[in-house]
This record gives sequence, C-alpha cells and structure tokens, in this order.
Amino acid sequence: MRILNFGSLNIDYVYSVPHILRPGETLAASKMERFAGGKGSNQTVALARAGAAVWHAGCIGADGEFLRDMHREAGVHTEFLRTVEGPTGSTVIQVEKSGENCIIYHPGANHRITAEQIAETLANFGKGDILLLQNEINAPAEIIRAAKKQGMKVFFNPSPITDAVKQYPLELVDCFLVNEIEAAELAGTECDPAAALAEKYPDAEIVMTLGKRGAIWLYQGVRIAAEGFSVRAVDTTGAGDTFTGYYLKALCDGLSTEAALRRACAAAAIAVGRMGAAAAIPAAEEVDVFLAERG
Ligand code: RIB
Repeated sequence: MRILNFGSLNIDYVYSVPHILRPGETLAASKMERFAGGKGSNQTVALARAGAAVWHAGCIGADGEFLRDMHREAGVHTEFLRTVEGPTGSTVIQVEKSGENCIIYHPGANHRITAEQIAETLANFGKGDILLLQNEINAPAEIIRAAKKQGMKVFFNPSPITDAVKQYPLELVDCFLVNEIEAAELAGTECDPAAALAEKYPDAEIVMTLGKRGAIWLYQGVRIAAEGFSVRAVDTTGAGDTFTGYYLKALCDGLSTEAALRRACAAAAIAVGRMGAAAAIPAAEEVDVFLAERG
C-alpha cells in the first residue's frame, strides 16, 4: 500500500503578536520567521516522520525549492512535485501568546496543477493505494474522481473549508478527516456534526479532531474516542496536519482505531509546543517517548 498526497506547499511568514489584530489596528510583532508550511506538505512531512512511504504531488515556484529539499531530507518521494512559473503558495500567519493563530493564504503555484499532471501522476498508482487530499490546491474534485478510477482509497481533509467543497464528489470519499467546524459545515448542523456527517455519507469513515479534547472516529454506528493531552501551546499551526499524517501511518501499520487516534493526538500535542508547521512535527521516536511517559 502506497500513499500519494496531492497537496499544497506554502512558505509561511509567521508573526508573533500579543493578540490577533482587530479591524483597523496596526501592531508591532515581536518576531517574524519564515517556515515551511502548506496543509499538504505538512501532512506529507508528518507521514514521512512517522515512517511512511509517501509520494507528494503538487506545484511550487522557483522560490520554493527549499520545500523540495525538505521533502527529500524527510525521505519523501518527490518525482511528482513540479516547479512552475510564478510564486510558491504563501501565507501570513499571526500567532498570539496563547498559541492560537489566524492565516491569510495566497495559493500561488498550488493553483497551477493541470489535468495532464493529474493524469500522469495517478497513472502510477492503483488498487489499494491511498490518496490523501486537502482543499488548498485547484482541481480537488478531478483528483478525487481520477483516484477512484484507479481503485485508490480517498482520505479527504476539507481544509480550509469553502462553499465549493460541497460541490466535490464527496460520495466517493472513503474517510473524512475533519475538525468540528468542517464537520458542521459539511453536515449542515452543529448538533453532533460527526454523527450527522456519518449519516450523510454512510460509506465513509469520519475522523473528527477536537483540539485538546482529543479525537473521535465514527463508522456505521460505531463511535471510538481518544482523549487529548494537556500541554502548553506555543503555536497551534499545523497541529491538525500532524494528527492526519500520524493517524494515517498508524492505520497503515494496523494499529487499532483507538491506538491510532491516541498516537495521532500525541504527535499533535508535541507539535503545538513548538513554533512553525513542518518544523514542529515530531519524529516517530519522540512520539514513542511521549506516549511511554504517559502510560
Ligand atoms: O495547517 C497549517 C497550514 O495552513 C500552514 O502551514 C499554512 O501554510 C496553511 O496552509
């Protein structure tokens, strides 16, 4: 079983601020740092640091070559990553003292994926392989359809959620990886959104993260929960991506759903204690130690 992540790669410009800006306000940041980011790339790095064999497909501009280098160093297969005209995707991220953030995203090269790139990439994958996808690139609907034609299993993280997501062929998704806001948006209700989503897409597994409260899994009437870990948050950017990569790898390793959720929560808890997205993602050994210390 191989994992293909067709996803975004961003350059994150992270500003440490006393509080997130109010409309019309100008504020001095205590620090500005450049980090490797992008929901797709973060999830790929999490998979690789967890020990998975992962292929990342997507687009960067010439200014994003350091992201390709980072993937190579992490052991990611990069033959489906293209360098195109124009800038790499980028973000402006404010991080306040509590670790909470807000993000402005410019897609850049992430919206330069062509039908030809999709066809050429997916031709290399087949039955039993996994496609992981988020919502920061163009053509997610086309990629979902093409992957299903190849017999792949589709894991979809609809983040950042937009109205357009509801027009994607979501009935083809095998597993939704969502937070509470995304689940509510897709299900159309804030009342037990995970259950409502499971009812709407009865053939799909639902994995819903709950921040520091942990995560739950739902499938055909069965609900499994894992508690979160109490840690001091420095920067929550990329915590959900870390969860996704570690959850998927644990699943591929045959861990029980409960153990996979717990391991993914542990990896995310470590990540929120550090600045940056990809830079904060722990290695598998760190997650082993973290879990061993907590019984
Ligand atoms: O999920 C975190 C990521 O979202 C950041 O790295 C940023 O690039 C945005 O895409």
